[in-house]
Amino acid sequence: MFVCNCNGITETEVKTAVRSGVESWDDVHAFYGCEPCCGKCQCEIVETIVEHQQAEQADEGGIFGLPVFEGAD
Ligand code: FES
Repeated sequence: MFVCNCNGITETEVKTAVRSGVESWDDVHAFYGCEPCCGKCQCEIVETIVEHQQAEQADEGGIFGLPVFEGAD
């Protein structure tokens, strides 16, 4: 499924870029040799980046060594 319709970037490609160390919306585009256009994909790409970072933190025992709980605000 396309996340960025302007550049044809899929959700899977966003995850690949994030696993490679990309940490921002515009850097996801740069990773695939393109630039953001309309900005409609920014929110979804940022969400994917944050989810990946949270999953990594959970795998590492959470922030400051504490586990990460879903929905704990
Ligand atoms: S949908 Fe990604 S820049 Fe337009």
